[in-house]
Amino acid sequence: METEYKVLTDKIEKKNNLTSDRKLAHIQICLEHDVQGRAITTGLEDISFVHHATTDLNLNEIDLSCEIFNKKLSIPLIISGMTGGHDFTHKLNAFLSQAVEQTNIGMGVGSQRAALENDEVKESFNIVREKAPNSLIIGNIGAGQIAQGLTNNQFQELIDMIKADAIAVHFNPLQEAIQPEGDTELKGLHEKTRQLIQAHSVPVIAKEVGAGFSLHDIRVIKKMGFQAIDVQGAGGTSWAGVEAIRTSLPKFKNTGEVYWDWGIPTVLSTILAKRNFDGIIIGSGGVRSGLDIAKLIALGADAAGIAIPFLFTVQQHSAEAVVQKIEEITYQLRVACFLTGSRNISELKKVPLIITGKTAGLLKIHGLDLSAYYSR
Ligand SMILES: Cc1cc2nc3c(=O)[nH]c(=O)nc-3n(C[C@H](O)[C@H](O)[C@H](O)COP(=O)(O)O)c2cc1C
Repeated sequence: METEYKVLTDKIEKKNNLTSDRKLAHIQICLEHDVQGRAITTGLEDISFVHHATTDLNLNEIDLSCEIFNKKLSIPLIISGMTGGHDFTHKLNAFLSQAVEQTNIGMGVGSQRAALENDEVKESFNIVREKAPNSLIIGNIGAGQIAQGLTNNQFQELIDMIKADAIAVHFNPLQEAIQPEGDTELKGLHEKTRQLIQAHSVPVIAKEVGAGFSLHDIRVIKKMGFQAIDVQGAGGTSWAGVEAIRTSLPKFKNTGEVYWDWGIPTVLSTILAKRNFDGIIIGSGGVRSGLDIAKLIALGADAAGIAIPFLFTVQQHSAEAVVQKIEEITYQLRVACFLTGSRNISELKKVPLIITGKTAGLLKIHGLDLSAYYSR
């Protein structure tokens, strides 16, 4: 029997504007297949803390809160943008946003492009602000839409739709290149993005989707005027992989297989962002635990982002399952602080780190001093 996403994909290949059906196919593929990096890893496995057996703290008194985009969060965690733009995703967004409000973390919505194309799906985004009136909520649009001439008014409409505290522009050229209908005409993108950012007061975040940003990218991002970087590095969900599964056209399927592991690992991208960019840094891409969050914070991120694990929790059709996952991650982060003698997130940022393996090699290539992370 044909899977539903195959049917959806066929429809998309026949008709070019079914953005919301494509979003649904992505969700199904992520739930039904292993779409994680294969040989590539985030580099988080190469980062170790120094264990404090003599810790002199009360576990439950550790302060995990932080402030980001003028919102105080209970822990430095943002659910990365995934859903919206389809009736079905209305429900998912409702569960996620309810849990986010209850636990006081942040959340990004998925691409709002579908809502620009079809008024009927706006509600799947509006629901997020309804359920999370006080939370940090981040809007989302693709760089492809900017290259195609997204106007200032449309950009403002996206912000207003969810009363966004910040908005992410996702750069995903790898994913687009594997989509038969992908947006691969990106000439003029830098100048158009610069003008759009300049015309708006809401902070704008440069976000990848799982292939990370290089040193070159970070310099370009700075020039365009972005206030924040959400690195979404390689080693987690592979969007070349998702698209390879979605298409039945051999040219794109085989190309997706070839590029499945392409990208800058999350740890390297986070370190490069910290050293070469002055704004807010979100460490993300393959983050799977509170210990992973602790490592990224110690490497210089202001917060961490997690996507696919939260998609699995909403499968249980309740906000409670999402809350449970957030509580588990919170506890893991708390234990990392306890075992490194950090009373709060500011102290966690300064603890010694040991960097080994492939990541150590990559940092050396970039001329970075590894011993500085251990001796601080
Ligand atoms: C089902 C799904 C849909 C996604 N849709 C979007 C999107 O619309 N816009 C975007 O910027 N990123 C999107 N992403 C990418 C995530 O925000 C994130 O960058 C990526 O999945 C890597 O994080 P992970 O390894 O924690 O999954 C989506 C991810 C998933 C799993």
